[in-house]
Amino acid sequence: MTKKKLNVGLIGYGFMGRTHSNAYCQVNHFFDVPYKPVLQVVYGLEENVAKDFAGQWGYKSYTTDWHKVIEDDNIDQIDICVPNNMHAEIAIAAAKAGKSIICEKPLALNGPQAEKMVEAIEKAGVANLVSFNYRRVPAVTLAKMLIDEGRLGKIFHYRANFLQDWTISANVPQGGMATWRLDVKAAGSGVTGDLLAHCIDTAMWQNGRIDSVCAMTETFVKKRMHVETGKIEDVGIDDACTFMCRFGNESLGNFESTRYARGHKALYTFEINGEKASIAWDLHDLHRLSYFDHSDESIVRGWRSVHVTDGDMPYMDKWWVPGLQIGYEHTFIHQIADFLKGLAEGKPASPSFREALATQYVCDAVLASAKDKEWKTVKKA
Ligand SMILES: NC(=O)c1ccc[n+]([C@@H]2O[C@H](COP(=O)([O-])OP(=O)(O)OC[C@H]3O[C@@H](n4cnc5c(N)ncnc54)[C@H](O)[C@@H]3O)[C@@H](O)[C@H]2O)c1
Repeated sequence: MTKKKLNVGLIGYGFMGRTHSNAYCQVNHFFDVPYKPVLQVVYGLEENVAKDFAGQWGYKSYTTDWHKVIEDDNIDQIDICVPNNMHAEIAIAAAKAGKSIICEKPLALNGPQAEKMVEAIEKAGVANLVSFNYRRVPAVTLAKMLIDEGRLGKIFHYRANFLQDWTISANVPQGGMATWRLDVKAAGSGVTGDLLAHCIDTAMWQNGRIDSVCAMTETFVKKRMHVETGKIEDVGIDDACTFMCRFGNESLGNFESTRYARGHKALYTFEINGEKASIAWDLHDLHRLSYFDHSDESIVRGWRSVHVTDGDMPYMDKWWVPGLQIGYEHTFIHQIADFLKGLAEGKPASPSFREALATQYVCDAVLASAKDKEWKTVKKA
């Protein structure tokens, strides 16, 4: 099949810039999609880093001015991989210029800003996707399939954790590459927007909308040096957040995230308990789906550990042979494959900006609940 070229402008050469570049490079090797991404230009703050990145990944040019990427008529797609406070301005400009857009999560700093982004992309009618990549871990996609098939029956409980330990030291600064996450002006919030947004997106995808929340947050280290000013400044992010919630289907949710769980680097786990069966998953063992089926004969009934590598399991027919694993980076390849397929068929891949707005509203309600110490109803997207 002759593939149509899709000229990509990448905004950001950091962690996500690398995962997205890798996905563009790999997608045609493994997925039969009608587009061939062409890496045209990369933007980043530092010229020498942008130049090296362009050389390493095969971008034809580089720039330290993202506006130039949007203004370039040769660019079809804008891929946003910069700190959260830059998403809105770039996405709105890209939509006005008629480009398709992939935007990293969380969509924006807050709900009102995300609403403006949704309005802009819907008005322009451009293809859009927000990079909640954990949906596309094969075991996580399989969990969604099992729920949709009704195998769990009525769902009672959804619990998820996302635990890290890398900001315990008060010497970790705020602002700058990677540590912009600790600067509330750049990040919008702490673990709520950074980590819980993933858990919330997956949870609502699997178990439906979240209606109301009751949360608590804490900032354990209250002052940190700011990389950009060199001064010790107040820390405005939530270092830890725990919330309970009610889903629209009457099930109860429990979510916890922190960067102060000594011993945990990126422990994202969820467990879903239904009337007929339960499911559990752990990012550190991402190919395994734990499954308990109450209809099994009692003398052999127990938690099964399903190794999600067979060809009839989500995405796995595109990779190696049963029993052999894939990894984190493949979730981004799946994401771009689904996006390109949707682009050709006029069927958008999920989650759209509007779906990500729903996650943003839950994050807003969580932060408001923690601040006011009361239950909050979540706005509907
Ligand atoms: N989907 C995921 O699992 C996942 C994982 C990590 C990050 N993210 C999201 O991706 C986006 C980018 O995160 P990242 O980890 O790639 O960031 P990073 O710090 O690794 O890279 C940041 C990029 O933004 C540019 N930049 C422009 N202005 C900046 C400033 N004032 N401070 C810092 N960098 C600046 C840098 O040059 C660099 O190219 C964020 O929205 C983040 O939430 C998503």
